[in-house]
Amino acid sequence: MTAPLIDPFQRAISYLRVSVTDRCDFRCVYCMSENMQFLPKKELLTLEELDRMCSTFIRLGVKKLRITGGEPLVRRDIMTFFHGMRRHLEAGTLEELTLTTNGSQLHRFADDLYAAGVRRVNVSLDTLDEDKFARVTRWGRLPQVLKGIDAAQKAGLRVKINVVALKGFNEEELFDIVDWCAERGMDLTFIEVMPMGDLGNEDRVGQYWSMKDLRGQLQQRFTLTDLTKRTGGPARYVKIEETGQDIGFITPLTHNFCESCNRVRLTCTGELYMCLGQEDMADLRAPLRSSEDDRVLEEAIRAAISLKPKGHDFDYSRQEAGGQMTRHMSHTGG
Ligand code: GTP
Ligand code: 5AD
Ligand code: SF4
Repeated sequence: MTAPLIDPFQRAISYLRVSVTDRCDFRCVYCMSENMQFLPKKELLTLEELDRMCSTFIRLGVKKLRITGGEPLVRRDIMTFFHGMRRHLEAGTLEELTLTTNGSQLHRFADDLYAAGVRRVNVSLDTLDEDKFARVTRWGRLPQVLKGIDAAQKAGLRVKINVVALKGFNEEELFDIVDWCAERGMDLTFIEVMPMGDLGNEDRVGQYWSMKDLRGQLQQRFTLTDLTKRTGGPARYVKIEETGQDIGFITPLTHNFCESCNRVRLTCTGELYMCLGQEDMADLRAPLRSSEDDRVLEEAIRAAISLKPKGHDFDYSRQEAGGQMTRHMSHTGG
């Protein structure tokens, strides 16, 4: 029996988030700068290397795999990778294969994702207004994303909508978004905007809308009951009694969820980030390429996990003092 991955704070690592590309067809203002420089394609792990990397993590006890980016569905032939991972689902060694997507390519891939064993997708969508959508993504087209969401639901995929809460941007749409998801039977999670990436002209501090505030606004119209359910991610859920809907809140700033952290992040170039909000990382590409023997990679993964920090230190006061993280969200996959 292979020993599971346990970090220095006795947390078992069972969730791997894998960024398969740093590229994206959108440039969301809180995620990327307008003139993002992407990595040369030759620096990315190949699909075979991604498969070997993920399979090794699964052997070490990872049960949930979330594919992210950038936008995972813009990577050429990415479905080959998804279909490869299906063998782990069939063997019962992997419990969930899923992805976080901006939805722009979902209409093309929904059926194939279902065929590969994906049952749930998280779609990032911050507004239901076409003009505002074009602004926040810098040029994304809302109808295309809505078409993708429909296709996903038709294919049998459960859809969760991720909304980054932005003061003065989607505040006035709060109830419209809740109703829209309820009508379509979709799960919904709100996320506090995190101080990552270079700011450009964006006023991150001014945009910050805390979940405490957002929750208070929901309570003006609805009765909320706290739920104990978890989906393996950091969201905490409430039930809206009037609609029967579950709503998730991801609160890196107001409520630190690090003590129950179960996840690490692999970048598209094979670096393992132990925490979204810390710079600690280990290069796994070199050990992967140095030997055909998977034990070399296993040892490198164990050594990396032994460096996992206790938690992130996102803090808007640091940002004002010029101390925010310059790493872009698309690098580590959110
Ligand atoms: P499920 O619970 O399986 O639906 O997924 P999830 O919430 O883990 O995944 P998703 O990709 O939808 O995550 C939503 C967002 O939550 C991410 O894009 C991040 O912005 C944030 N997030 C997820 N995990 C962490 C984490 O470990 N730390 C911090 N600070 N934020 C996280
Ligand atoms: N803060 C919070 N969430 C972010 N995302 C990207 N950048 C940020 C940020 N700075 C979210 C996207 C998507 C996921 C991949 O990450 O909206 O839901
Ligand atoms: Fe692309 Fe997602 Fe970043 Fe928006 S948040 S630019 S859709 S990776």
